[in-house]
Amino acid sequence: MQICRTIPEIRQTVADLRNAGTLGLVTTMGALHAGHMALIDAAKGDHAAVVATIFVNPTQFGDPKDLENYPRTEESDLEMLKAAGVAAVFIPEVSDIYPEGDETIVETTRLANVLHGLVRPGHFRGVATVVTKLFNIIAADAAYFGKKDYQQLAVIRRMVRDLHMPIAIHGVETVREHDGLALSSRNVRLIGDERYDARVLNLSLTVAEAMIKEGKTVEEVAESIRGVIGSKRSAKLQGLDIVDVKTFEPVTGVPKDTICIMISVQFMMVLLIDQREISP
Ligand code: PAF
Repeated sequence: MQICRTIPEIRQTVADLRNAGTLGLVTTMGALHAGHMALIDAAKGDHAAVVATIFVNPTQFGDPKDLENYPRTEESDLEMLKAAGVAAVFIPEVSDIYPEGDETIVETTRLANVLHGLVRPGHFRGVATVVTKLFNIIAADAAYFGKKDYQQLAVIRRMVRDLHMPIAIHGVETVREHDGLALSSRNVRLIGDERYDARVLNLSLTVAEAMIKEGKTVEEVAESIRGVIGSKRSAKLQGLDIVDVKTFEPVTGVPKDTICIMISVQFMMVLLIDQREISP
């Protein structure tokens, strides 16, 4: 596996790889887990070679403490990428991605500023900007993102469509722990009973899915989710959005088309998110 730390190095490596066939891209902020490996497996299934990136993107963090505390585990990340058969990994410096005097941003003006974007102002602008830069540096045929970050995936799909970027975007199903907790690099920051209590994210969505299938309204479902999350003292429901998957507009009453329920739950040190796509 080629480890590239500069833009010219990764550009040359990508050019060589593309001579041999198509290329899949998996962008990450490191602290890799089985969820990232599922993205790599999906990319490997579709392409001759896979390139990964490790870059903790400062512009998508609102709270400087969150950025500082973000887990950095480069050595084990590299072992995992190598074992997964990744052809090359790009690990840039912040100053390479954001050169001095940098003043260009990319933003999906509506999608970035609704739902989870209201809780984390500027977050999706940071994501869209860094993903654009990485797509411009690494000319891959397709990129793979987890469905757990559902709004992020929607933002990236919209950006690629609107800006005519020549890359296909694939959403990959969320990988979960045995008790249903979605894998996340943030899970290691749950303390005491919080790890046990964090099961309520998936549990509340499972109850919600059953209710939708029974023909209940989204208002009844929202009430149930508030109750299930509220039953755990360490968990505070911060965001609850029920949207139409095509328009990303809020749904009311009994849904007629596929919806997505997105929740974010605050624990002492960490905000966890989860989602479920449900067809009535
Ligand atoms: O999902 C992530 O890990 C990050 O938001 C991404 C897409 C790598 C951009 O920094």
